[in-house]
Amino acid sequence: MEKKQIKIAVFVSGGGTNLQALIDAEKRGEIKSGKLSLVISNNPSADALTRASENGIKTLVISKKTEGSKEAMEEAMVRTLTENGIDLIVLAGFMCILSADFTRRYDKRILNIHPSLIPSFCGEGFYGLHVHEAALQKGVKVTGATVHYVNEVPDGGEIILQKAVNVEEGDTPEILQKRVMEQAEWIILPAAAELVSKKILEGKA
Ligand code: GRF
Repeated sequence: MEKKQIKIAVFVSGGGTNLQALIDAEKRGEIKSGKLSLVISNNPSADALTRASENGIKTLVISKKTEGSKEAMEEAMVRTLTENGIDLIVLAGFMCILSADFTRRYDKRILNIHPSLIPSFCGEGFYGLHVHEAALQKGVKVTGATVHYVNEVPDGGEIILQKAVNVEEGDTPEILQKRVMEQAEWIILPAAAELVSKKILEGKA
């Protein structure tokens, strides 16, 4: 029988508001080509784990600490993804840079959300509030978010979707971060997850 949905794993480390946006979009029927099937966290106290369990999604903690090294962590991830028949990985606030071995194995099968308009304010060191601090320091009037494929270059893979967000007078990094999440991240991440799932399902990616 032909597959009706691919299986998605979401990698998280923290609050999980982007995971929540994915869950909500799936509930609204906006993600229909993929099923949120597994959440992997490298942080045992990530709130994202609670969001996943409350919504009946299987969760696992796999980290350098639990496995002993980054290499062992990635091996455990590959094993788990294979055992669970995962077709697509979505990085939603996953605070660990994956090795080239890992990203090559899942070429065009890993998405990431980054809180700026790539190629601005991206790459190593640009994570969390640092991204918004840098945008404010530069004085840009427009920022936003980007969903891209993940390759061996941090934030360097092919761009899938972007959405612009205005910077406003008096913005602090925290205010800007919240606006970028609400007006861009939580919209384009689910949209990209559906777009890529559909392509995989139809054998077009
Ligand atoms: C988001 O800003 C995302 O763009 C970045 O990490 C943050 C994660 O937030 N990659 P959350 O855990 O989804 O709330």
